[in-house]
Formats: sequence, structure tokens, C-alpha cells
Amino acid sequence: MSTLVWIVLPYACLAVFVAGHVWRWRHDQFGWTTHTSQLLENRLLRLGSPLFHLGAFGVIGGHAMGLLVPASWTAAAGVSEHTYHLVSVTGGTITGVMLVAGLALLIARRFVSGRIRRVTTTMDRILYAAMAAMVVLGMSGTVVINLLGDGYDYRETLAVWFRGIFWLRPDPALMSDAPLVFQLHAIGGFLFLALWPFTRLVHVWSAPLAYLWRPYVVYRGRRTPAPAAQPAPAAVRKVVTPSS
Ligand code: HEM
Repeated sequence: MSTLVWIVLPYACLAVFVAGHVWRWRHDQFGWTTHTSQLLENRLLRLGSPLFHLGAFGVIGGHAMGLLVPASWTAAAGVSEHTYHLVSVTGGTITGVMLVAGLALLIARRFVSGRIRRVTTTMDRILYAAMAAMVVLGMSGTVVINLLGDGYDYRETLAVWFRGIFWLRPDPALMSDAPLVFQLHAIGGFLFLALWPFTRLVHVWSAPLAYLWRPYVVYRGRRTPAPAAQPAPAAVRKVVTPSS
């Protein structure tokens, strides 16, 4: 059972992640978009979207630091365990709260506005539910266990198992004693990756980064009044006059 959950499942999800993107690109390039609904509702989106995206960037950065950087590297760089814990719990809590608030606004918008409700697909509902579940589990680990509780050193266990998947040497024993919340969050994370290519999240790979360095588009106002319409040429007038 533990081989199935901690080895087979992650690889199966990663395979679906890769194959799913290829399939989506080949079959649904016109659907490869954010499916923006800004024109239908902008009041909640204006606050919810930046909160959600800034929170998500912070949480992704925190995951990269916590899961990909071995504890021995930060120790070698002179960062004590206490300092690391302080930075990770403070950063994780702040960015996590931003993510939760942004996500709550984006979900509320889908219920409050009838126009948004009508353009919400089943896949959107599944995606929002999956994100909410992941965020609740993640925040339970960070806030309930690592900030307020006894703490769990995921860098010596979960993170080592996680990196092992990419080195093709995953060790399921490292996950067997992890708190349930962390186990569910890690399994959920891989299932989330498998869901990704079938949702609007594909827009992440098409972020318009070129906007940052492309030349400005210059708009000019018309200062002089537009010229009066010219009378139609005589030949045309002849054709359309009732007497002709
Ligand atoms: C396999 C993939 C994933 C793994 C192994 C993983 C692991 C972790 C760990 C170990 C923590 C605790 C960090 C701490 O206490 O300092 C955490 C927190 C968190 N995770 Fe994940 N996670 C994964 C995917 C995701 C995904 C896909 C989401 C959101 C959709 C997510 C959202 C969060 C949030 C909101 C927190 C709390 C804030 C923070 O500490 O950054 N995680 N995750």
C-alpha cells in the first residue's frame, strides 16, 4: 500500500501532468486561456485576483525553498534551524493568508454574481474545490502544527521523499510517520498536478511576460475634428436616386 501511495501515485500523476498538457495543446489551443471574466465582474476581481496571485507566488517560492533546498545547504550557509523555522513559518503564514483571502474572494464572486455563475464550468468548480482543500491542508500544517503546535520537521522527511521522486529513488518509509495533514497535503499536491492540464491553470505557461520588455503601444488622440463626409461621386448618386 505504501509503495502505491508514495511511489506509484506520484509518478502516475506526473505522467498525466505531462501527457495531459500535450493532449490539451493538440486538441484545445483555442481554450488555452485564463477564460477571463473581468468584463462581467470587476469589483471583487480587482482585489481578489492580485491577492490570490501574490499569495500564490509567495507560497510557490516557499515550497521551492522548503522542498528543493536540502537542510544541509542552509546549515552550510550559516542559517540556523531556528532562523529557518522563523522565516518559513512567518513567510508561509503571511503568503498563505493572502492566498486564502484571494481564493475566498474569487470563489465568493462565483456565487454572488449571476453572470459569473453562468460562465462557471464544472471543471472550474472542481479546480476551486481542489485549491480550497490544498490551502486548508497546507495552512493546517504551517499554522496549526508548525506555528502553534509541536512542529514537524518536514525537511528531513517529506522534502527528502519529494526530491527522491525526481532522482528516481523515492523512499516511502520517510512518509509513513508524517502527520496525517502532511500526508494528505502531499498526496493532494500530486493529484492537483494531474488535474492541472485540464483546467484554466494552463494559462500559467502562457503568461504574457513579453509585455514587460516590448515597446509601448502609442495611442494618439485626434486633436482636429474629423473632416466632413465627402458627397458621393456623381455616378453613385445617379444609381441611388429614386428618379433614376
Ligand atoms: C506535491 C506537492 C506539494 C507538497 C509536497 C507540499 C508540501 C507542503 C509543506 C511541507 C508545507 C508546510 C510548509 C511549512 O510549514 O513551512 C506546505 C504548506 C502549504 N501548501 Fe503545499 N505542498 C504541495 C503542493 C501544494 C499545492 C498544489 C498547493 C495549492 C494549490 C499548496 C498550498 C500550500 C499552502 C497554502 C501552504 C501553507 C502556506 C505555506 O507554508 O506556504 N501546496 N506544503
